[in-house]
Amino acid sequence: MTLELFAPAQSGEEELAPGAVVLRGAALGVDGALLDALDGVVAAAPFRHMVTPGGHTMSVAMTNCGALGWVSDETGYRYSPLDPANGGPWPQMPEVFSRLATESAARAGYSAFQPDACLVNRYALGARMTLHQDKNERDFSQPIVTVSLGVTAVFQVGGLARGDKAARVRVNHCDVVVFGGPSRLRFHGILPLAAGHHARLGDVRVSLTFRAAG
Ligand code: CO
Repeated sequence: MTLELFAPAQSGEEELAPGAVVLRGAALGVDGALLDALDGVVAAAPFRHMVTPGGHTMSVAMTNCGALGWVSDETGYRYSPLDPANGGPWPQMPEVFSRLATESAARAGYSAFQPDACLVNRYALGARMTLHQDKNERDFSQPIVTVSLGVTAVFQVGGLARGDKAARVRVNHCDVVVFGGPSRLRFHGILPLAAGHHARLGDVRVSLTFRAAG
């Protein structure tokens, strides 16, 4: 693995590691529809800062849509069919979300990906996600698809052990990362968000992370 920053590109595919790829600009053309649909999700399930099992409030604000939502509190991480903020189900996953996730997974070689969970992360200036594995899902044969919107961020791609060196790759508005196969359990994270501006989202980055969780 290399440690250089890949130069941003408008389109094309860049392999990050076996089974992990960035699809540059894959959401261009549907980004307006994604953001319109996101407004509906956030109206029903507002962003909130969750607490880790260790008692720390996360810098990233989160919400979910789909049959299952990822939640964290003092008792641990898990998927829940209910939003703990109101006790009701999460908003339905908009079709424009699930279609992009399924199409992106297929482009990366994972056919018939059907996400049942979409975690929406909102990064303000300085917000970050430290290196971690996604392992609360039942079936690791299914990939993870993450759509980046708004301000450019730096995604870290580590190895299968926490201490492995992490490569860094810029993820721009409308880039889609697919993480699966032998890379499914790689450590990954987002460096503290730098200053930036997006015409519609302002100074924040929003990511949509799709998983087959249940
Ligand atoms: Co993750």
